[in-house]
Amino acid sequence: MQVIDNKVQLRAALKQGRAGGKSVGFVATMGYLHEGHAALIDRARRENDLVVVSVFVNPTQFGPNEDLAAYPRDAERDLALMRARGVDLAFFPAVEELYPPGYTTFVTVEGPMTQTLCGRSRPGHFRGVATIVTKLFHLVAPDRAYFGQKDCQQVAVIQQMVRDLDFDLTIVACPTVREADGLAMSSRNVYLSPEHRAQAPRIAQSLFEAREMIAKGERRATVLVDFLKKSIATIDSAVIDYVSIADSKTLSGLEILSGEVLIAVAVRVGPTRLIDNIRVEV
Ligand code: PAJ
Repeated sequence: MQVIDNKVQLRAALKQGRAGGKSVGFVATMGYLHEGHAALIDRARRENDLVVVSVFVNPTQFGPNEDLAAYPRDAERDLALMRARGVDLAFFPAVEELYPPGYTTFVTVEGPMTQTLCGRSRPGHFRGVATIVTKLFHLVAPDRAYFGQKDCQQVAVIQQMVRDLDFDLTIVACPTVREADGLAMSSRNVYLSPEHRAQAPRIAQSLFEAREMIAKGERRATVLVDFLKKSIATIDSAVIDYVSIADSKTLSGLEILSGEVLIAVAVRVGPTRLIDNIRVEV
């Protein structure tokens, strides 16, 4: 595995690697890798000749009062996981490599898709995501890029951006990987106190129970949202950011469920903001 920290070497390595028409699969991450990231890497490994993984805690997607400084980091462990999963090229740039002094260009996906859900509670977040993903797509020029459904709005925003800006690549959306008790894996789970960690699976369990209600015939969004809010509020000191039932492609809210439905929640458990979602075909 090559470990590269600058753009010039990255482009040179990829030019060489791509010789003979080899395909490139790409996984963008902020590091502190877990089995959710590993599932994207494994899929990229199966479907491409070369696998590139970036690790970059992107400052432009964090709000001023968010956890940029505290975001967990462990480069050695990340490198070990990448080696074990057969990554060819690990890209670990410093902030100045991607945002040198005088940097001023940003990519904004406009419209309701970025104003709802996490876009509403984290203003500027998707502008930061769209900007860094655009830069990484230009640098890596992958054939396929792998993203997790755990961040369902991120996938929708990136798909929109790829369509609108004519990126010549395929976005592959991968299912959420969960702990044995249902909690969606996240680098941020490390922030949870033992008490909150013990209660956090209630979020996923509530989503699964909502799925059962739909299977039994419930179609009214308000009934499901009320149930989810009550169920998640049983977690000590949980503050619900949103519980949303929306069309999975447009993310626009639904009153009566039909088609492919996204049920998405964001909850603050103590200082930790957790998100989770499920998709249900109605
Ligand atoms: P990060 O949170 O590190 O996640 C990197 C990728 O792993 C994302 O596509 C995310 O959806 C996926 N992922 C995280 N947890 C997962 C889980 N439990 N199951 C499946 N996939 C999971 O998302 C980001 O970083 C950043 O916003 C980034 C796209 C790298 C841009 O900075």
